[in-house]
This record gives sequence, C-alpha cells and structure tokens, in this order.
Amino acid sequence: MSDARTPLIAGNWKMNLDHLQAIAFVQKLAWTLKDANHDFDDVEVAVFPPFTDLRSVQTLIQADRLELKFGGQDVSTHALGAFTGEISGHFLKQLDCSYVIVGHSERRYRHVESDETIAAKAKAARDSGLVPLICVGETAKDLERHEPSAVPASQLRGALIDFKPGDEFVVAYEPVWAIGAGAAATPDQAQNVASVLRRVVAQMIDEETAAKTRILYGGSVKPDNIVGIMKCPDVDGVLVGGASLDVETFASIVRYKKHATF
Ligand code: PGA
Repeated sequence: MSDARTPLIAGNWKMNLDHLQAIAFVQKLAWTLKDANHDFDDVEVAVFPPFTDLRSVQTLIQADRLELKFGGQDVSTHALGAFTGEISGHFLKQLDCSYVIVGHSERRYRHVESDETIAAKAKAARDSGLVPLICVGETAKDLERHEPSAVPASQLRGALIDFKPGDEFVVAYEPVWAIGAGAAATPDQAQNVASVLRRVVAQMIDEETAAKTRILYGGSVKPDNIVGIMKCPDVDGVLVGGASLDVETFASIVRYKKHATF
C-alpha cells in the first residue's frame, strides 16, 4: 500500500443476499463503521450486491447519506438492444454505481468469458462512466506450467487493450487457487504478482497511470491475514468474497489499520 493511493476494501457478495437482506446488511455495516468512527476518505469501502439488490442499496445509501460505494458484479459488452438477460453499463450508472467487476474467475471459467470479452466489458464499463474492477489470476494448473505472474499479466494486457492515459480502473489479482480455499496467497506472493501487474499498466498505458492505479488482492482474505496483505507496497486493497457476507468480519477487514501500524 502506498500513501499515494486510497486503499479500497471491496465486498463481492456473488449470488448471496436478496434485496431485503441487502438492506439490513448495508444498514448494519454503516452503523458498525460509524460507531468505530471509520474514515471513508482514508479507506474506501464498496459492496458488490447482485443486480436485483442495487436499487434498494442505492435508495438506502442516498437516503441515509452513507459513504459506502457500490457496484455491479458484471456488465454487458453492449450498450442497449436485444440481449436477453444482460445488464447495460448505462443502467448501472443510472443507479449510481461507481464500479463494476469484470473478468471475475467465476465468469472467466464457468461462463467461458475470453480475454476479448473481458476487454469489451471493461471498455463498455469505462464508456458508461463506471470504474471497471478488472480481475485477473492464475489457476493451480497454470502455476504448474508458468511462473505465477505469467497468466495474470497476460490477462491484464488483454483487458487493457482499449485503455488510455487518464482512464480510471482498478485491478484485482485473484489467484483462482486461493478463492474460497480458506488459505490466501502469502504477502510475498501477492506483492510479486501485484508489482508485475503495475509494470503491465505502465507498459500498456503510462507510468503516471501505473502509479495511480489501485491493485487489489483477492482470495480467502480474512481479518487474520489482512494486515500482512495490506503491508505489501503494491497492494492497495482487497476484494473479499466469503468474509464480506458477515458484517462484523467485513468491518474488521475494513478497519485493518486498527490491528497494526502502517
Ligand atoms: P473469497 O472470494 O474471499 O471467498 O476467497 C474472493 C473472490 O472471489 O472475489
């Protein structure tokens, strides 16, 4: 983590919490962080609920003037039209989403999304005024054949093809072998790949963008490993799956600075 970049702690709910549960969750999270005097300018917090929750989350956040950010978990490559079941970036923007996740491994592998599709989604998000949160990461099999950063770096090169200086995006390095596994990558492993990904941003766009871009780590992040991860100089936050579904646990991750000195 560098002082030049505001850390982002993001909760990817995946297909969990319906819209009523989402309201209760966001309310409780906001109260918990308020009670703890959390400074949202110091550590940004975002949640990624299912599409059907977004309107409820938006209404609550606006009515109560909460400082939480939110976003969608996926976006269509298209802006409008005959694409049954898809959600346009424009619709997400209209709901005041700040971010959208693209290229999560569950979409890359279960929904067979290619690097080209992910590049088109990242572009569609950017063109709609959203900040794409681009996920990259290697599988255990990739690790047998390549060095750890090879696949994530190549996925990031593919995703950034249409990006130029000044475009805002977030990168999440999520080793697929660590997602939902219980054991995260070590801080050294996370740092090594994150630093290569920052070089990729510099090569694909420019040094200034690379210095500004936040690179998150994701995969079995918990309160007991967050401090080590956040001490990595090139890791600027985390994308949390399972541990983001419990308010106390997620709030404890958000408040990682309270557990150590930085
Ligand atoms: P996990 O998921 O924290 O449950 O490992 C992370 C993710 O898939 O984004």
